Amino acid sequence: MEPGYFTETDSAEVVIARNADAKSQRLQQVMAVLTRHIHAAVKEIEPTTEEWMTALQFLTATGQMCSDWRQEYILFSDIMGVSMLVDAINNRKPSGASESTVLGPFHLADAPELPMGANICLDAKGEPMLVRGRILDTAGKPIAHAKIDVWQANDEGFYDVQQKGIQPDFNLRGVFRTGADGRYWFKGVKPKFYPIPDDGPVGKLLAALGRHPFRPAHLHYILEAQGFDTLVTHIFDPDDPYIHSDAVFGVKHSLLAKFDLITDPARIKAEGMDGPFHLVEHDFVLAAKA
Ligand code: BEZ
Ligand code: FE
Repeated sequence: MEPGYFTETDSAEVVIARNADAKSQRLQQVMAVLTRHIHAAVKEIEPTTEEWMTALQFLTATGQMCSDWRQEYILFSDIMGVSMLVDAINNRKPSGASESTVLGPFHLADAPELPMGANICLDAKGEPMLVRGRILDTAGKPIAHAKIDVWQANDEGFYDVQQKGIQPDFNLRGVFRTGADGRYWFKGVKPKFYPIPDDGPVGKLLAALGRHPFRPAHLHYILEAQGFDTLVTHIFDPDDPYIHSDAVFGVKHSLLAKFDLITDPARIKAEGMDGPFHLVEHDFVLAAKA
């Protein structure tokens, strides 16, 4: 049967029928679902022509903000909770495995591999922190030769790549490999909360929504080991003022670590530290490849 002409009532189905000869079934399915949902949203919202133009101008400005260094559409997806939703759908884990969260834009693929225990803070700025734990499988067995790629913001809330010429290159990043006991340990500085890049259309949208742009203090990890799913995750400071309102919804209960301030001189000496420091102990559990 010939599909009918466009009407307000049949709008979505008329458009979907027009895509009947799509080259890919997946594209056809995705476009049908999007068409149905977008038409339903427009019918519910009933935007004025001016409001619709404002929406299109927002998308235009978002595209214009994108460059080799800036992905404003990912930020849009982040603040809408869509990045975390896609992450959740693609990283369903068996019980007991550590949970994933967003990668974020500040990972560098070529961070230096360092000896276990190294200090990733290259400018001696910030409150010292010792981070340690084990990389385990879901049966609690240590994973040897696991690769731990870690990166963090400094105590002012900036990554090295945001402060070229101010922070040394590769400050607060490093790659470590576990030995047979699956243990890891390294030194850094206590991270601080920071705003996601908010000088573009997404920042304006957050402000218009009465939302702040901050992410609570965290350390980023990518954990890789042969035979296991790669885990992209963070650990968070549970006492951070923004722990309940992460701008990108990245916090999960299981990712809350403990940042214990150690001031006892005997413990400081026993841990080989020079003065008071934050001790962060956190084990990660990797899921075996299906
Ligand atoms: C980050 O944690 O590095 C990050 C994540 C999402 C958006 C911006 C920054
Ligand atoms: Fe981050």
